[in-house]
Amino acid sequence: MPLSAIESKQSTGWSPDSWRGKKAEQMPVYEDPAALTKVEQTLANYPPLVFAGEARRLKAQLARVAAGEAFALQGGDCAESFLEFHPKNIRDTFRVILQMAIVMTFAAGLPVVKIGRLAGQFAKPRSAASETKDGVTLPSYKGDIINGPEFTPEARRHDPQRIVQAYNQSAATLNLVRAFASGGYADLHRVHQWTLDFLKGHPLESRYQDLASRLDQALAFMSAAGITVENSPPIREVDFYTSHEALLLPYEQSMTRTDSTTGEWYDVSAHMLWIGDRTRQPDGAHVEFLRGVKNPIAFKCGPSLPVDDMLRLIDILNPDNEPGRLTLISRMGHDKVAAHLPALIRAVAREGKSVVWSCDPMHGNTHTSTTGYKTRAFDSVYSEVEQFFQIHRAEGSHPGGVHFELTGQDVTECTGGAYKITDENLGDRYHTHCDPRLNASQALELAFMIADELQKHVKSTRG
Ligand code: PEP
Ligand code: CO
Repeated sequence: MPLSAIESKQSTGWSPDSWRGKKAEQMPVYEDPAALTKVEQTLANYPPLVFAGEARRLKAQLARVAAGEAFALQGGDCAESFLEFHPKNIRDTFRVILQMAIVMTFAAGLPVVKIGRLAGQFAKPRSAASETKDGVTLPSYKGDIINGPEFTPEARRHDPQRIVQAYNQSAATLNLVRAFASGGYADLHRVHQWTLDFLKGHPLESRYQDLASRLDQALAFMSAAGITVENSPPIREVDFYTSHEALLLPYEQSMTRTDSTTGEWYDVSAHMLWIGDRTRQPDGAHVEFLRGVKNPIAFKCGPSLPVDDMLRLIDILNPDNEPGRLTLISRMGHDKVAAHLPALIRAVAREGKSVVWSCDPMHGNTHTSTTGYKTRAFDSVYSEVEQFFQIHRAEGSHPGGVHFELTGQDVTECTGGAYKITDENLGDRYHTHCDPRLNASQALELAFMIADELQKHVKSTRG
């Protein structure tokens, strides 16, 4: 096929601003459009946060996931915040993702593709556009890139200057993450040691000891066989990618550039971008924007997504059925996943579409605690992941990945888990600016369960 035909198939009528002709849900309303335009022009001249070649590398790794040869772990804050911006928070999130990945990789013998929800995860879709407290109604908080969480008219005003601050914070975050990933912090031995230390005295220590000691043996064997930090970069470095919801389209457009190597468009604000469950209208602006950039992308599949809409979205977003291009993140809820997910999986298989199936067990399992906090029950989260694996086993498809809201900190935002956090404990360390996150202990507990499930899955597929 000549290049022009390939191009026109991928991006008929597309340009970085073609989304402006479509209906865009969840968009902020700026009082001064000229101020926004100025910010967009400023950002368009700022350096890219990621390179197109890195996004292509992630796409190739996700293609392996789609083929059943790897697993994808995506996680981080619900929303990054200006106030909580601290190297310790970034380090702890990075660390818990690495710990989870090592547990999964070792158990299943599958490479784990690591993707952070960070360095750009700032804009939030909201169910209600406004919030009323004591008779006062103000616009809802929509993430620090749009407005502030404080309940005052000044904070809740949509302010385009915040976009520049979010870009700067993303750049600094990514700088630290890159240093962690390649500067020796991610050395396999260290990550393993942290995990061992973490498990000491943990309520589930004895259950995890077996895996931990097998890991020890494997590392000792590797070192005896001459595979060392000095001669094998994969032991001391990791590939770590960034992702966020591509909600705030003016920001995404101003970060969209042509790649000098291929001449193709990439959104260089992150390696991977996804479309949320509230903005996935097939004829909407968010779908229009993401269809034209070449990054690996995803969309969320909630219980209200009809099979036909899913197939339409797949055709629009991945017309060439390119493996690794498209991840479908199901976020049904533990009580709905069994009723909704199988039909989606069957339709994808029937149509011969290549996708990565990922499970977000967070967004379908949110409720308000008896003590008034927005929370999630660990058991519901656990159950949705377990059912995700069972359903894929029954359908003969590959459970490709998981997507969590988590933090490496010892917060009390989701109830349950080994430390049995109750509704009454939630106030102790409830720090999230948006949705409740798994803490490090809850995240690792899930990693061990996923490791078991992956092991079963690999055994069954390799006979
Ligand atoms: C999110 O991932 O933060 C989110 C809002 O998810 P969803 O679009 O699935 O509700
Ligand atoms: Co969320």
